[in-house]
Amino acid sequence: MRTPMNILAFAASSSRNSINKQLVTYAGSLIKDANVEVIDINDYEMPLFSEDREKEPGQPDAAKRFLKKIGEADALLISFAEHNGSYTAAYKNLYDWASRIEQKVYQGKPMVLLAASPGPGGAANVLQTAKTSMPFFGGEVKADLSLARFYDIFDTEAQQLTDAEAQAKLEAALASLSG
Ligand SMILES: Cc1cc2nc3c(=O)[nH]c(=O)nc-3n(C[C@H](O)[C@H](O)[C@H](O)COP(=O)(O)O)c2cc1C
Repeated sequence: MRTPMNILAFAASSSRNSINKQLVTYAGSLIKDANVEVIDINDYEMPLFSEDREKEPGQPDAAKRFLKKIGEADALLISFAEHNGSYTAAYKNLYDWASRIEQKVYQGKPMVLLAASPGPGGAANVLQTAKTSMPFFGGEVKADLSLARFYDIFDTEAQQLTDAEAQAKLEAALASLSG
């Protein structure tokens, strides 16, 4: 019998009702024979990065905890929110701090990247940015999926996708982790 994979899942958003957190939580629930832990990046909040703060008071413990979580996982599932075509400030801050401790933030882990927006764009810009830069930061992207018009395809009461095409694409993306 194979040991279940440990998958670390999170949304790159600090919104309490983050649609990306809803999506990544739902996606995690679809993965069979795996231990999926969904973390909230609000639990890794830090002062705004600056090279001065890096010297004094120094690298925050939260950045080290975040890197440790990644290190302990077998695979990652990340859903990106898009703010003005790019990462949310909250995630960029966490990522910047973490990258100063360990440039290969994602530590060679296989990963599936998701992105969702309420509008027609599906946060595709930030997804493209993340996908392109992942190899440089030690991420092995197995699949990626952008979902547009989130509220038309996801039932926020039932916390599940209602659109068959989106569901099939998500399942195919997730299957790449166990392949
Ligand atoms: C400051 C700001 C900028 C945004 N810029 C974009 C954008 O560039 N592209 C996009 O698709 N949605 C944009 N949105 C809408 C977000 O997609 C929407 O707020 C979404 O819910 C964010 O994901 P989250 O709920 O997981 O945080 C923006 C929202 C905010 C607050």
